[in-house]
Amino acid sequence: MLLKLHVLLLFLLLFFTTSTSSTITTTTKSKEKITTSIPISSGRLLLHSSTYILQTSLGSPPQPLLLSLSTTSSFSWIPCSSSSSPSFSPSSSTTFLPLLCNSPSCPLLSTSSCPSPSSPCSSFSQDTLSLSSSLIFPNFTFSCITTSTSPSQGLLSLSLSPSSFISQTNSFFSSTFSYCLPFFLSTNFSGSLLLGPSSQPKHLKTMPLLINPRRPTFFYVNLTGIRLGRKLIPIQSFDPSSGAGTVLDPGSMYTRLSALDYAAVRDAFRKYVNGTVTSLGGFDTCYDGPVNPPAVTLVFDRLQVKLPPENVMIHSSSGSLSCLAMYGAAENDTSGLNLIGTMQHQNHRILFDVPNRRVGIAREICTVS
Ligand SMILES: *[C@@H]1O[C@H](CO)[C@@H](O)[C@H](O)[C@H]1NC(C)=O
Ligand SMILES: *[C@@H]1O[C@H](CO)[C@@H](O)[C@H](O)[C@H]1NC(C)=O
Ligand SMILES: *[C@@H]1O[C@H](CO)[C@@H](O)[C@H](O)[C@H]1NC(C)=O
Ligand SMILES: *[C@@H]1O[C@H](CO)[C@@H](O)[C@H](O)[C@H]1NC(C)=O
Ligand SMILES: *[C@@H]1O[C@H](CO)[C@@H](O)[C@H](O)[C@H]1NC(C)=O
Repeated sequence: MLLKLHVLLLFLLLFFTTSTSSTITTTTKSKEKITTSIPISSGRLLLHSSTYILQTSLGSPPQPLLLSLSTTSSFSWIPCSSSSSPSFSPSSSTTFLPLLCNSPSCPLLSTSSCPSPSSPCSSFSQDTLSLSSSLIFPNFTFSCITTSTSPSQGLLSLSLSPSSFISQTNSFFSSTFSYCLPFFLSTNFSGSLLLGPSSQPKHLKTMPLLINPRRPTFFYVNLTGIRLGRKLIPIQSFDPSSGAGTVLDPGSMYTRLSALDYAAVRDAFRKYVNGTVTSLGGFDTCYDGPVNPPAVTLVFDRLQVKLPPENVMIHSSSGSLSCLAMYGAAENDTSGLNLIGTMQHQNHRILFDVPNRRVGIAREICTVS
C-alpha cells in the first residue's frame, strides 16, 4: 500500500507539474535563538515539485538539503546517488554511518531481509540532521537511496511509524507538531512547521485523531461529509477492518476521494455551477471562463472547515480554464482511502497531537507576497 501511494505521488508529480526554471537558494546561517518553528515553502516554483519543502542540512560538514514533508511515508528518504541532483554525498560526511542489521535503530522487521547481524540494514543509515542552527539531531535514521530510480528529492517522514522523524524525536517534541502551508504559487519560506507542545497555538479547534490498524502509521480523521452550497454529500465512513477513511496528506497536492465519494461531490459541484464541463489532465470538472463555485465545507466529526475559493479551484497557467482541484481514485482502487491534499490545506494551521489523540485545524494566513 505504501508503495502504491509512493507510485501515486510520483505519478502526480509527473502528471500535474508544469515546467518552470528552478532556482535553489540557501539561507546564510545567522545568529538565531533556539526556535522550534521551521520555515516551509511550496516547492512548485522553486523546484517544480508539487510538495512542500524545508531547508535542512545533513552530515558533517553540513550539506544543504531540501526535504519535502510527508505524513504517509514510513521512513525518511534521502537521495544518495550522484545521478539525482541535488543529492547527499555520504563519503563527504565524517558522521555518516550505514546501519547494520543488529542495530536497535534498524527498522527492518523481517528476519529474511537480515540474514546475519553484520549484514547491512538495507539502505538505512544515520547522520546528523540540522533543521536550523539550533535544532540538530545526531544519529538521525533515514533510507539512503542510491538506485537510479531514487526520488529526485529527499523526504522527511512525519508519520506515526516508529522510524519516522516524529518518533525519533519523541523525547524532544512529544509527537506533537503542526504546519501551515503557504499558497502553492508562493516562493517564500513563509509557512511553518512547529515542533513540540509548547510551540502550538493555544486555542485551536480539534477533533479526534483515529488510528486504523490496517494502516497504523497514518493519521486518520473522521470526515463525515463535504458540503457544497447547501447540499451535504456524505463521505464513506472510517472502517478499521478495511482501512477505509480519510487522511490529511501534506505530500499530495490534490484531494483524492474514493471513486464513489468523488462522483457524488463532482455531480453536486457540476449541478451547482450549471456550465459546460470540460476536462484538463487528471481533472474532469473544468470550465472555460469565470465560474461561480459553491462554498465547499469539509465536515468532520466535531469540526467544520469552510474552504476559501483558492483552495477549491485550480486555474490553468496557460489559459482561461479552471478546474475543481480534486479527483477520484480509479474504479479498481479498493483502498477506500481519501487523501486531503495540500490545495485544500493552504493557509490553515493543521495540528497533530498524538499523546492526546487530537487533530486541530484553523485558518491561518501564512502566505506573504
Ligand atoms: C551516535 O552514534 C555514534 C556511533 O555509533 C555513537 O558513538 C554516539 O554515541 C551516538 N550518539 C547519540 C547521541 O546517540
Ligand atoms: C517573497 O518572495 C518574493 C519573490 O521572491 C519577494 O519579492 C518578496 O520580497 C518576498 N516577501 C517576503 C516578505 O519575504
Ligand atoms: C442551467 O443552465 C441552462 C442553460 O443556460 C438554463 O436553461 C437552466 O435554467 C439552468 N438551470 C439552473 C438550475 O439554473
Ligand atoms: C465519526 O463521526 C460520526 C458522526 O459524528 C460518528 O457517528 C462516528 O461514530 C464517528 N466515527 C468514529 C470512528 O469516531
Ligand atoms: C487499475 O486499472 C488500470 C487500467 O485500467 C491498471 O493500469 C492498474 O494497474 C489497475 N490497478 C490495480 C490496483 O489493479
